[in-house]
Amino acid sequence: MRFLLLIGFVALLTSCNQKKEVKVETDQNMMVKQSEMAALMLKMFDENAKNKQLVLKGDFPKDYPQEFIKLHTAVLTDENDRDVAFKGYSDFYLMQQKILYNLTDKDSLIPQHNQVINSCISCHQVKCPGPIPRIQKLLIK
Ligand code: HEC
Repeated sequence: MRFLLLIGFVALLTSCNQKKEVKVETDQNMMVKQSEMAALMLKMFDENAKNKQLVLKGDFPKDYPQEFIKLHTAVLTDENDRDVAFKGYSDFYLMQQKILYNLTDKDSLIPQHNQVINSCISCHQVKCPGPIPRIQKLLIK
């Protein structure tokens, strides 16, 4: 029994794990504390889900969310994740995200949106594979 409880606890903490993504998601809603980084990621997800709809209509995303810079500082579930690679992926993602908000050419909207999402996925492949299937849904095929 204690062993089972322990397994449940581990599944709850490892939001980056591949297994049982849906279940972990529900468990997380019940968790009292979510890391600052996980909360930021959910905002980034929502913003890019909105951008996907805009871009599909040919509209330009406006008002780059300044708080995304917190990617460099927000407290992680596992602070060991913050290394040189993390910094590199963060810079690359933030740069791509800004380019999207500064576009003036409609033909670039879809490719640039996908570029943003692929820069999310690149970091996740190394740092946090669990949410990748969810993030891939933000791509415009
Ligand atoms: C620099 C690396 C990096 C980039 C870029 C990145 N992520 Fe993350 N993401 C992480 C890490 C690490 C976590 C785990 C955070 C934690 O648990 O503290 C995470 C967690 C998540 C989660 C799970 C949050 C939860 O419920 O626990 C989602 C969803 C997510 N990211 C989506 C995105 C999206 C969408 C983008 C791009 C707009 C993105 N990520 C860009 C590293 C990254």
